[in-house]
Amino acid sequence: MNADPAPLPRILILASGNGTNLQALIDASRERDFPGQVVAVGCNRPGAFALERAAQANIDTFVVDHKKYDSREEFDGALMAEIRRHNPDLVVLAGFMRILTTDFVRALRGSLLNIHPSLLPRYTGLNTHQRALEAGDEVHGVSVHFVTEELDGGPVIAQAEVTVDPDDTAESLAQKVQLKEHLLYPIVVRWFCEGRIQLGSDYVLFDGELLRKPMRLPDERVTH
Ligand code: GRF
Repeated sequence: MNADPAPLPRILILASGNGTNLQALIDASRERDFPGQVVAVGCNRPGAFALERAAQANIDTFVVDHKKYDSREEFDGALMAEIRRHNPDLVVLAGFMRILTTDFVRALRGSLLNIHPSLLPRYTGLNTHQRALEAGDEVHGVSVHFVTEELDGGPVIAQAEVTVDPDDTAESLAQKVQLKEHLLYPIVVRWFCEGRIQLGSDYVLFDGELLRKPMRLPDERVTH
């Protein structure tokens, strides 16, 4: 008699908009050997395309509309109630455009990931591509990090680089960075589901060892 295989880790994804990262994660999770299952997608905007993507993939969705709540605490409380209903092992922020309360972040400590379009610690917050251009950076990129109380400040797990070209604009950089996001996020989520990454007090453990600096995917662009 065969023992039932262990259930795959349950992934819940929160998104606010287009959901291209959500799509990349859904696609990755459909690969035969992917070590996790996307069980639900939550959104704070009723008409977001991310919801459509989830529905297309037959994934449960829920909406907690931030406009219906008077305070961040009430919104986060309602969001947490929905999250708990799905009993996730991992909550993935994929373009979720809300600042979360300290209580919310603490409650999910060690199982909450975010993707941010810069090479953190450079450029926390918004307009990262424009700021990288204005600073004259030759290399820009994207980071995946554990979420802690500090906005965009939790320990970084992995980054992917893009080369900044002289004719790049904020829009062209955003496109280049997004392609990398779609590569990087599934890799890190896979690591999490395989139990390879853990959050320590203010550091990441990778395969049980202190990760001294984030894993880096260099820009593999071929130059002739
Ligand atoms: C991405 O650029 C991500 O880095 C940022 O929000 C954006 C979401 O894009 N946190 P999408 O909705 O996944 O297309």
